[in-house]
Amino acid sequence: MPENILEMRDISKSFFGVKVLNKVKLEVRPGEVHVLLGENGAGKSTLIKILSGAYRREGGEIFLGGQPFTAANPKESIQAGINVIYQEFNLVPEMPIYENIFLGKEFVKNKIMVDKKTAIRESGKYLEMLGMEIDPRTRISRLSVAAKQLVESI
Ligand SMILES: Nc1ncnc2c1ncn2[C@@H]1O[C@H](COP(=O)(O)OP(=O)(O)O)[C@@H](O)[C@H]1O
Ligand SMILES: [Mg+2]
Repeated sequence: MPENILEMRDISKSFFGVKVLNKVKLEVRPGEVHVLLGENGAGKSTLIKILSGAYRREGGEIFLGGQPFTAANPKESIQAGINVIYQEFNLVPEMPIYENIFLGKEFVKNKIMVDKKTAIRESGKYLEMLGMEIDPRTRISRLSVAAKQLVESI
């Protein structure tokens, strides 16, 4: 059986003395898809936020690729390959797909000019990888929720 790529062991967390997570366990092997199912307030988001470094756990251990892992902040977890897609989008609806993908990391030409052509071309490659037949110049606001989530995952 393949090894777990992610393992969360005995994860505990309280807010103001109220236990929200009590020794929660999650094991994920390569290629597996899991669903965290639970009523509102069950602690699903809290568990994911602990994984992503948005919250600090009180107890338990996390292993990523077999190595102990603690993200001090979301930036660290992103660098480790954990990509959380939130229900609320972080996309700018009025802007095209390619500008959203390279927001804050624009390609530059002649040292000062934003290289739009390269951004469009590179975005096109990502969309193709995701099996999306869509022009990278399409505005985010025109996309379906599913398409927005795919773009957000890039
Ligand atoms: N930052 C926070 N401060 C205080 N309580 C919180 C915080 N985040 C979550 N909680 C509480 O933890 C419990 C679990 O919340 P949450 O993880 O968002 O549940 P779910 O995502 O399963 O709906 C809820 O009772 C919620 O009010
Ligand atoms: Mg939630």
